[in-house]
Amino acid sequence: MEFIDTMLMTPGPVHLDAEVMLAGARPLLHHRTDDFAPIYTECVNLLKKFINTKHLYLTTSSGTGAMETAIANSFNEGETVLNIQTGVFGVRFTQICKAFRLNTVELKCEDGKCVKIEQIAKAIQENPAISGVTVTFNETSTGIKNDIKAIGEFLKGKNILLIVDGVSGLGALEYDHDNWNVDVTVSASQKGFLAPPGVGMVALSERAMAKMESVKCHGLYFDLKVYKKNQELKIPAYPWTPAINVMYSLLEALRKIDRIGLNVCINHYAKLAGGLRAALKALGIKIFTEECATSNVLTVFYVPEDLNPKEIVAEMVNKYGIRIAGGQEQFANTMLRITTIGNIGERDLIGTIGLLEMILKQKGYLKETGAGLKAMMEYFMANEK
Ligand SMILES: Cc1ncc(COP(=O)(O)O)c(C=O)c1O
Repeated sequence: MEFIDTMLMTPGPVHLDAEVMLAGARPLLHHRTDDFAPIYTECVNLLKKFINTKHLYLTTSSGTGAMETAIANSFNEGETVLNIQTGVFGVRFTQICKAFRLNTVELKCEDGKCVKIEQIAKAIQENPAISGVTVTFNETSTGIKNDIKAIGEFLKGKNILLIVDGVSGLGALEYDHDNWNVDVTVSASQKGFLAPPGVGMVALSERAMAKMESVKCHGLYFDLKVYKKNQELKIPAYPWTPAINVMYSLLEALRKIDRIGLNVCINHYAKLAGGLRAALKALGIKIFTEECATSNVLTVFYVPEDLNPKEIVAEMVNKYGIRIAGGQEQFANTMLRITTIGNIGERDLIGTIGLLEMILKQKGYLKETGAGLKAMMEYFMANEK
């Protein structure tokens, strides 16, 4: 069977609805006009509301560009930054910091575990020059959710900027930039904000705004001083040519989230993730992430011994039109990842688990199909409002 649409059960880009995609097909408006300014401004304002921040800029980039913007505007060459690493994306901040000639202190957490406050305290005690901490809110490579609220509380009153990668967490998990004492939060359009890729986001605290004004940003494209100046114009503008069509789609998606209610979306994903975890447990499949740090964005799990995750991914997409994700980097031969965010519901999770069970039976891991589905359906029914 050849599929026209592949169902994306990957942790970003995620499955989007037709209205959001079609919004991006509208003819272009010129970006330095009264026509486009309200679209740009409404995107910024809705994101400020969802993240709870007073200052937010959009970038024409994916999430990595927003991460780079955060670092470029928060630190001068030679400053020391603590990079908390709970997976691939924590390491990415180290790579960016090094590219900007910062000194890095790398805090590598144990596989499958979130960072603990004592580890951060120890690193800061041992390295008093630290003036910034980077951390991943939802680590998409390992399915770990770090406790940003607790980290913000711990860093309160210290002269240390907290920079959070919220690329896959925002829009999907509860988050509060201002009340959690975060200085810079970055995100992107293609995950919890339910839009195509192409727009990055950078939110800043008052303290981060002040620091940004004093930092000599190396490079022009991501210099937030230029973004600030343009956003303060009579017709608020983006400094360069923005991803106009992606912004049309983003606005459609943000309005939809606002109409439904961000909390309703967050609770919906929690229910889907609970159902998925219940199914995996019933199938005797081990979840990689420690229980206190599991995320509702995605679940990362071990592939039963002797099975090849790449073959399972290929069969799911080629036979059944469902794209799940393999493990990243050192986990490529042992893990699978399934998301529970996007324009998806119980229908899609039941389909995914049912088809996965069929493959697992054909490969000889399961004697009978149905145990995972039963656990999932029971979970969904028990958690219906
Ligand atoms: C947590 C996290 N940070 C950063 C990124 C990088 O974002 P992008 O691929 O949009 O550059 C990703 C992408 O998957 C991510 O999940």
